[in-house]
Amino acid sequence: MIAQANRLDHVEEYYFSTKLKEVRALQDSGQPIINLGVGSPDLQPPPQVMTALHQALLNPSAHQYQPYRGTNDFRKAIAEFYKNFYNVGLNHETEILPLMGSKEGITHISMAFLNEGDEVLVPNPGYPTYAAVSRLVGASTVLYDLKEETGWLPDFEELEKRDLSKVKLMWVNYPNMPTGAVAKKELFEKLIAFGKKHSILIVNDNPYSFILNEEPESILKYSSDLKGIMELNSLSKSFNMSGWRIGMLCGSEKNINSVLKVKTNMDSGMFFPLQAGAAMALRLPQEWFREQNKIYMRRKEEIRKLATALECSFSEDQAGMFLWCKVPEGNTSEGFVEHLLKEYHIFAAPGFIFGSQGEGYIRFSLCASEENIIKACNRLTA
Ligand SMILES: Cc1ncc(COP(=O)(O)O)c(C=O)c1O
Repeated sequence: MIAQANRLDHVEEYYFSTKLKEVRALQDSGQPIINLGVGSPDLQPPPQVMTALHQALLNPSAHQYQPYRGTNDFRKAIAEFYKNFYNVGLNHETEILPLMGSKEGITHISMAFLNEGDEVLVPNPGYPTYAAVSRLVGASTVLYDLKEETGWLPDFEELEKRDLSKVKLMWVNYPNMPTGAVAKKELFEKLIAFGKKHSILIVNDNPYSFILNEEPESILKYSSDLKGIMELNSLSKSFNMSGWRIGMLCGSEKNINSVLKVKTNMDSGMFFPLQAGAAMALRLPQEWFREQNKIYMRRKEEIRKLATALECSFSEDQAGMFLWCKVPEGNTSEGFVEHLLKEYHIFAAPGFIFGSQGEGYIRFSLCASEENIIKACNRLTA
């Protein structure tokens, strides 16, 4: 019997990895499940992107190993995208690192900067990978609560009262998943000042800035230098390319080089056509987002009706591709999700999977057709 590594004692298999097996088994047994659980866009990537990918396949060197830092053209496209959409100037040679999705970046950043015993500030509720990966690398997670009363933003007064001497890194994620909260200039400035004061690397995870969000923002815009901040970004949600596994990390040359040291020992570059397609996506005009958001807006309207019919309450000003709702009094998030699954064959994500502050909430995804959302709503009255 070979014992698994001790580091696995403190992490669970990812919730959706196990739960979606159960949902698929229900579907296979003939239950008409409507999946409003995951944030995997069902819409198609831009057609020009698929054409670029096809054409790139015919490039004679397409099937060879690609540069560890990504192709020069893809990095240039990322720099142009940051300039055009966030008004952030980045050096494409040194301050950008293409990634296979932003999720892998969370591991690479953690391996590059965290030693055993270091502490990491992790949002509660938040994307579960931040805490899981911190534990995998032997760091200790220190949760910071996000609360509905304070707009799901960090409470700096409370943070300042803590002993922060061992904290090395802080994960932030605005527009926020799962709550849909949006950060403005003031919050980013406070985060940057907080990081500087306590020598904490602030990493903003920014995959949702173009979905139902009036003003896409990057934390990088608010700092005079990139020394203490990094930003993850992704094409998964913005361009409906979650299965492509393509994203990026931006930061100072020094910090990017630390992450590169990890990454060059873990993979051998990204498939050339994926990078060519992604570069095409990043160069599309604003119109792409406008059209996507028209669809998401209509879906959100229907999801709001569904939530209201279920007596869930929610704030109106949420960005991103979810609706985060409070479940009716007397329900747990898990109990409510099981009830929806059993009674109406609707699957949604229970808030507890995002941390204790997510208990009492449920997350509906907009990654389902308007028709299916209406169908889900009709099931409540049938
Ligand atoms: C907050 C957050 N960060 C990162 C990711 C991972 O995205 P990617 O597909 O780029 O790995 C997700 C995906 O759901 C997410 O919600």
